[in-house]
Amino acid sequence: MLVLGIESTCDETAASVVIDGKKILSNVISSQIDLHKEFGGVVPELACRRHVDIILKVVDEALKEAKVTFDQIDLIAVAKGPGLIGALLIGLNTAKALSFSLNIPYIGVNHIEAHLFAAMMNESDEIQLPALGVVLSGGHTTLILIKALGDYEMLGQTVDDAIGEAFDKVAKILDLPYPGGPEIEKLALNGDKKKYPFKPGVVKQKPYHFSFSGLKTAVLYTVKGQDNSKTTNTPLSLEMKQDIAASFQSAAFSAILSKTKKAAAEYGCRSVIFGGGVTNNNYLKKLFETEAQELKTFWPKDGLSLDNAAMIAGLGYEKFKSENKPDGLDLEALTSISF
Ligand code: KG4
Ligand code: ZN
Repeated sequence: MLVLGIESTCDETAASVVIDGKKILSNVISSQIDLHKEFGGVVPELACRRHVDIILKVVDEALKEAKVTFDQIDLIAVAKGPGLIGALLIGLNTAKALSFSLNIPYIGVNHIEAHLFAAMMNESDEIQLPALGVVLSGGHTTLILIKALGDYEMLGQTVDDAIGEAFDKVAKILDLPYPGGPEIEKLALNGDKKKYPFKPGVVKQKPYHFSFSGLKTAVLYTVKGQDNSKTTNTPLSLEMKQDIAASFQSAAFSAILSKTKKAAAEYGCRSVIFGGGVTNNNYLKKLFETEAQELKTFWPKDGLSLDNAAMIAGLGYEKFKSENKPDGLDLEALTSISF
């Protein structure tokens, strides 16, 4: 079954052609980083306009790269949420228009569920259920118990900033470009992670919830002083930036490590499936390799951690196979979807 995936939840316009939910024939991602960089974060209105401008070109490119034409496509899968409402509508309406005009069934899928599916695209045979899903992205920090594909229980999520958002905001404090995650990781390579005693937040009586806003504020106070008291024109030294980056990264990921280990033990999970842009981080992978040897970890392959449409096509195929029910033209985009 040939599935065309479409993704436009935030600042990537993406399309992909996938066979039977596994074999990726094309995975075209048009990033809008250039557009949002000067603002230090995603500007929703600009994101929408760019999606409108290029979505059909991206779809055409995905078909061309896969060497297929529309008449060979059996199903269109599209991210219906969560995400920015305007951005979502462009992908969803594109899928609806293509479905209606070309008479191809279409199905809407949950972007977060697709992030988890990304790591299963090649290796689902080895995954032991129940498994623990860990989604770490610019918009989400979520621990999910995966009983089966489509059968989930949300165990915890962030009560304030998402982990990727915290990386981006800390990068901004350090005068680093957007997106901040890769920049912090690079700087941290040469930093001393013990230099600053940063700590992730604790959410009372919710052991699997996360909080990162206090951690971000601790970085802000270190750099600017409380009440902006350190307002000098002297830029931070490279060494100080490296140490702050390393200390922040280590604190943020210590919360992910400890809560994942605790949840995996409590719910009897041996397999942990990671998804989302932050899982691109090699320090995080090494941390789990060394500190969580009891767990078998599954990470998205190259090109599948950041937002992409291959994971949407893959999950769409599985969902269509199990439910055998396309969506109607009345399907709505959802800015948030609960598990
Ligand atoms: O999953 P994604 O592409 O978009 C959302 O659905 O949000 O994730 C983007 C986020 C950004 O916040 C970015 O800074 C972060 O992932 N990110 C990283 C790394 N690469 C991307 N964070 C930490 N380390 C990285 N290497
Ligand atoms: Zn995402």
